[in-house]
Amino acid sequence: MSGPKDQALRARAARVIPNGMFGHQATHLLPPAFPQFFTHAKGAHIRDADGNRYLDFMCAYGPNLLGYADDRVDAAAVRQLARGDTMTGPSPLLVDLAEALTAMVSHADWAMPCKNGTDATTMAMMVARAQTGKRRILVAEGAYHGAAPWCTPVPSGVVAEDRAHIGHYRYNDIASLEAAVAAAGTDLAAIYAAPFKHDAFQDQALPDPAYAARARQLCDDAGALLIVDDVRAGFRLVRDCSWELVGVRPDLSSWGKSFANGHPISALLGSDSARAGAAAIYATGSFWFSAVPMAAALETLRILRETDYIEHSVRLGTRLRSGLDAAAAAHGFTLRQRGPVQMPQILFADDPDFRTGFGWATEMLREGVYVHPWHNMFLSAAMTDADIDFALDAADRALARLATTRALLQPHPIVRALTAAH
Ligand SMILES: Cc1ncc(COP(=O)(O)O)c(C=O)c1O
Repeated sequence: MSGPKDQALRARAARVIPNGMFGHQATHLLPPAFPQFFTHAKGAHIRDADGNRYLDFMCAYGPNLLGYADDRVDAAAVRQLARGDTMTGPSPLLVDLAEALTAMVSHADWAMPCKNGTDATTMAMMVARAQTGKRRILVAEGAYHGAAPWCTPVPSGVVAEDRAHIGHYRYNDIASLEAAVAAAGTDLAAIYAAPFKHDAFQDQALPDPAYAARARQLCDDAGALLIVDDVRAGFRLVRDCSWELVGVRPDLSSWGKSFANGHPISALLGSDSARAGAAAIYATGSFWFSAVPMAAALETLRILRETDYIEHSVRLGTRLRSGLDAAAAAHGFTLRQRGPVQMPQILFADDPDFRTGFGWATEMLREGVYVHPWHNMFLSAAMTDADIDFALDAADRALARLATTRALLQPHPIVRALTAAH
């Protein structure tokens, strides 16, 4: 819970940081009790600036895949730190990492590491345009691809020209995809696809295999490239590109967040069908070739290949989902829990302004469990059956309290603004 230390930090932040905090981790997007600042993270737990400890289902919005501060990954990072990190040229680890990523991801023949997911999604757009000589990029309505002018969900500071060649279609809707492709005429450079629908505020949805296959075919017919944005879901569903699950291989896939278990690195992967475009663009950054995150990534990928982390998360996620459904029913609530169990999203039926969801997240926070009221969450491999038991016991008490205060809940003003914006 936000306590005196968190409040003091917020007051200082308000003076030296616009809005006190920016981007997806800004606490004004969450219930008022949520702390802004954290001091420690280990395994499945985080500790806020006031010393409160939480079982954390946000996993840093995705980067924590194996558990915070995984000893094996961090030892590899520390070893590399002693050798060299950001240097005048890349370390040999750049080649090792490109080899490791292309060996794991079936469609990929090459890799270009970068720093954030937005780097990888923006580079994918540039590669597609350079490869095809065309301009039009199609994205699914409501899908998040990052914070650059072409894709940020908050259009302040963006001009119409930034998005002049961006078109939209509805996820899993073949007719709307076909219409968007037809509207692009001969100018289609790429179709962007999320591995599954994981938009904020909305029910998650797995990809319809027919829609995925049609997206591939439409690209092939138009001489355009297919891009899967695996920044959020990468290596959480399968040890490969997520669309292997529906039997469709893209030309490009963007990766980030979790493949170095929280160390800062992302990557664009591509097949030979996009190699010339990738070779043609100018893309770089001062920290893109830092060796420490590459060492962390190589160790993370080794662990992903050699352990049952996905199967473990699916088993725990299944327990969590069914246990929450039962607890909700016992207290007179109905949950909407869709999509992969290892990336849970917990929404309430009949809760259009998210007042119940905000109340639920606040009650869970009081119980020492950090859940998000409108964003998808993540399980990490460090979670145990005991953690799920803890979360379910907490949920039972949280929902019991929520049932008694339900009639008094009010929508938070930010929810009105956010749901209107999406
Ligand atoms: C699907 C997807 N694409 C791209 C991004 C942007 O990644 P980053 O915030 O690292 O720039 C995100 C971040 O949440 C994401 O979820």
